Amino acid sequence: MPLDDTRRVVVGPAAEFPPGTRRIIVPFRGRAGIGLFNVNGTYCALRNLCPHKAGPLCTGRVSGRVVADAPPSGENTNLDLIRDGEIIRCPWHLWEFDLLTGRCLVDPKVRVKTYPVSIEDGEIVVYADPADLPEQPAPLASVPLSS
Ligand code: FES
Repeated sequence: MPLDDTRRVVVGPAAEFPPGTRRIIVPFRGRAGIGLFNVNGTYCALRNLCPHKAGPLCTGRVSGRVVADAPPSGENTNLDLIRDGEIIRCPWHLWEFDLLTGRCLVDPKVRVKTYPVSIEDGEIVVYADPADLPEQPAPLASVPLSS
């Protein structure tokens, strides 16, 4: 999506969002909002809506992947945790997604929507799709006044 078609959402100072931090931003009526994550120093933003059955993906457990150097039935199997902090597991049916790309680990054709994030003057800025955000508040002049 070209940035011209996005809305700039200033989240707050990057200094207050260290690695491992997560926050759900702009939740509003009937919409899940956006999950903002600091993944080992890289900021990423995902729609808080799982592409499987619309679960609250960004509230899930963040971890890594366990890999084995042999089938787990073997006595000499070594297990390693890799990419710690880069994988999120949906709390509803446990599908796993790569926080940095939004891709589902078991089926890369499935992907959660992601948004560009930048640091501008020390502030975290998310460029969100307006369809995923609340309407702009009405200007005060248009609010009817009671007598
Ligand atoms: S709704 Fe997320 S895995 Fe099913």
